[in-house]
Amino acid sequence: MVAAIPMIARPAQSCVIAKQICQHANPSTSKSPNSMSALFSPIRLADLTLSNRIVVSPMCQYSANDGVASDWHLTHLGMLANSGAGLVVAEMTDVERRGRISHGCLGLYSDDCEAALERVVAHCHRIGTAKIAVQLAHSGRKGSARMPWEGRELGTAAPDPWPTMAPSAIPFGADWATPRAMTIEDIERIREAFAAAAQRAVRAGFDAIEMHMAHGYLLHSFVSPLSNRRNDEYGGTLEGRMRFPLEVARAVRAAVPEGMPIGARITGTDWVDGGLTGDDAVVFAGALQAEGLDYVDVSSGAITAEAQRAPTPGFNVPFAEQVKRETGIATRTVGLIATPKQAEAIVAEDKADMVALGRAFLDDPHWGWHAALALGADVARPKQYLRAAPKMWPGAAYRD
Ligand SMILES: Cc1cc2nc3c(=O)[nH]c(=O)nc-3n(C[C@H](O)[C@H](O)[C@H](O)COP(=O)(O)O)c2cc1C
Repeated sequence: MVAAIPMIARPAQSCVIAKQICQHANPSTSKSPNSMSALFSPIRLADLTLSNRIVVSPMCQYSANDGVASDWHLTHLGMLANSGAGLVVAEMTDVERRGRISHGCLGLYSDDCEAALERVVAHCHRIGTAKIAVQLAHSGRKGSARMPWEGRELGTAAPDPWPTMAPSAIPFGADWATPRAMTIEDIERIREAFAAAAQRAVRAGFDAIEMHMAHGYLLHSFVSPLSNRRNDEYGGTLEGRMRFPLEVARAVRAAVPEGMPIGARITGTDWVDGGLTGDDAVVFAGALQAEGLDYVDVSSGAITAEAQRAPTPGFNVPFAEQVKRETGIATRTVGLIATPKQAEAIVAEDKADMVALGRAFLDDPHWGWHAALALGADVARPKQYLRAAPKMWPGAAYRD
C-alpha cells in the first residue's frame, strides 16, 4: 500500500537528482571522446549508463501466449539488442491479465511470465550490446481488442472478449465496448499490480523500468479530461486526474532498487480540443520527477479513436523540448524520426536528451550501426559481425 498523494511540490532532494541528471544529460558536457556526435555520447540515468542516446521504442508484437514471451521475443529483442541502440525498451507489458490489449500481449503477472522474460533478458545481455528496459502498462478501455493483423472489419473486440475498466464508463470509440468505471478497490489493486510487476521486472534482470502513461491506455486515460469524468479525488482538476498515475509511480519507485532508472512515457498533446496540452505535460513531468522518476519520454495522441495527430517528421519534438526546458528532467522524444541527421540534430540542439525510433528499427535492425557510419561515430558490435564494420569492410562505403 502507498500513502495518498500530497500537494505537488518538488522536494529539494529531487531537484538535486534532477540537476545531476541534467549534467549527465547535457550533450555538451558528456561528448564521447571518440566522436563529435551528440547522439553517440553516453548518458547516465540513475546508476545506469547508456553508451549512446538512441533508444528502440517499445513495440507490441502480439506474439505472447497468455502473457508469456515466446521464441519470437527471443529473436526480435535479441536482434534489437545488437542494433547499435544504447537502450531497447521491450513492448508494453501488462501488469494483469485483463490489462492486456489483446490475447497476444506480453504480461508480467505470473511466474510463467517472469520466467520467460528472465530468459529473454539474459539472452539479450549475453549476446547483445544494448541495455534492456521493460514498459509496464495496463490497457484500460483499449483492452480486449483484436490483434492488428486480424482485421478491424471483424470489429474491435477480441474473440473471447473480457470486460474492461477505465476511470469513467466512456468507450474509446463508437465501436468499442463501454468500460466499467473503476472503484477505489480497483485503483488500489492496479497500483499494487504495477508494484508487483516492477519487482518481477527487477528479478527478470531488466536494466530499467518505464511506465506507459500515454497512447490512451489506463494511466493516460486518468490524466486526460476527455476520458476522466470522475468526481472523486481521482478526477476533476489536473491535480486530481494525475493522482492515480502518481500513486503508481510512487509504488513502483518504492518497489525497485534506488539506483535503477525509472521513467514514463507521457503525452505531449491529445491532439483534441479540450484535451491535454504541452503545459499539462510540463506539470505532469514535474510531478513525476518529484516522485523520483529519472526520465520521461514525450509521445502523444491515441486518447480517442477519432484523435488525429500530425504525421510530420519529429512531430513530438516541440513537446519534449518544452518539457525538458521547463522541468529539467532527462527527456526522450519519439515519432517519425528516421534519419541519423534528424536524430543527431534533436540531441545536439538540446531539444531532447534521447531519441526513440520504432518503425525505423523494424525496417533496419542495424539502424544504429548505419547512423554511426553516417555521423562518424563508433558503436559496439558483437565480435561475430566485426568483419562488416566500416574499418574492416570497404563495402560499407559503397551504399547508395
Ligand atoms: C508495431 C508497433 C507497436 C507499438 N507498440 C507500442 C508499445 O507497446 N508501447 C508504446 O508505448 N508504443 C508503441 N508503439 C508506438 C511506438 O513506440 C512509437 O512511439 C511510434 O511508432 C512512433 O515512432 P516511429 O515513427 O519511430 O515508429 C508501437 C508502434 C508500432 C509500429
